[in-house]
Amino acid sequence: MLFARVHGITAAPLNDDRVDEPRAPRVHSGRSNQANNGPMTTEPVSPVLTMNDARVIPQLGLGVYKIADDQAADVVQTAIDAGYRHVDTATLYGNEVGVGEGMRRSGVPREELFVTTKVWQDDHGFENTLRAFEGSRQKLGLDFVDLYLIHWPAPKRGLYLETWRALEKLRSDGVVRSIGVSNFHTHHLDRLLAETEVVPVINQVELHPWLPQREVRAYGDANGILTEAWSPLARGRVLGNPMLDTLAAKHSVSPAQVVIRWHLQQGIVVIPKSVTPDRIRQNADVFGFELDADDLAAIDDLESGERTGLDPDENN
Ligand SMILES: NC(=O)c1ccc[n+]([C@@H]2O[C@H](COP(=O)([O-])OP(=O)(O)OC[C@H]3O[C@@H](n4cnc5c(N)ncnc54)[C@H](OP(=O)(O)O)[C@@H]3O)[C@@H](O)[C@H]2O)c1
Repeated sequence: MLFARVHGITAAPLNDDRVDEPRAPRVHSGRSNQANNGPMTTEPVSPVLTMNDARVIPQLGLGVYKIADDQAADVVQTAIDAGYRHVDTATLYGNEVGVGEGMRRSGVPREELFVTTKVWQDDHGFENTLRAFEGSRQKLGLDFVDLYLIHWPAPKRGLYLETWRALEKLRSDGVVRSIGVSNFHTHHLDRLLAETEVVPVINQVELHPWLPQREVRAYGDANGILTEAWSPLARGRVLGNPMLDTLAAKHSVSPAQVVIRWHLQQGIVVIPKSVTPDRIRQNADVFGFELDADDLAAIDDLESGERTGLDPDENN
């Protein structure tokens, strides 16, 4: 069964009234204006999860790391046409201009879209973070950002608490709706929770079958912090595993769809990246099948502890 985490107190099934039912992608006749060569918009495909600030996040989103700024608008528009409503970018990715343009071009009202961006460690500190956020907001061309994250704790810089206080201010000013962190180990979260006011809504960490992040997830469950998976396909590298081919054949889907489904069924927010239109659509077409307990256990067995990126204590 699918679970949404709400305030770390209850685990609510995805079919309760806090979570939209997943829907199959289809053309939304009311907003489609193909005759004018304008955007083709579809219904949203993803369920939403409720965060600890009572706002919702689409559980499936599009990652845009390593997508060039001048390609990002087309990619984001393709994704929104395919039913995505959630895009994950960062100052570091250098594509906030293209992401904002793709959102506008899609024709989907701003309030129906969800965009995340992140403050990079060179901008840590209270005033620097406020300035960095304003830069991101202007590049995106938006009045507000749905979710703003500290990209890495960068513990040797010693500034993540000050940075977090800037995020708290941005939230109370209304220019950011929800605030969270990325790449925080539980010891970073311990400090944040002990010394600041607002509990992060989410912790975005490297998470895939090789690295299931059980400790971070349990901590999130206990403290009302959703877990979001970056590199959910291990940058595509996990997909060559023959066991995933077997499961893919069993469900008549692709190995990537199996892995995305493994994330979704565990209540994890998942943001696979692709620039390839067929893959963008395929990665969103994951609500018409269900992995059983044996399938999930077989994928769990792939755990090796291997990271594709840096350990958060080492990235400063
Ligand atoms: N917070 C952080 O520190 C952090 C770090 C890394 C990433 N992220 C976020 O997480 C997002 C996802 O992570 P990621 O981009 O590193 O890796 P990923 O989503 O695990 O994998 C992306 C790779 O898989 C390929 N792929 C996608 N769908 C596929 C499919 N259906 N079949 C076969 N191959 C497929 C893509 O190829 P094509 O693009 O060529 O189709 C690309 O090479 C990023 O884009 C970014 O938004 C955050």
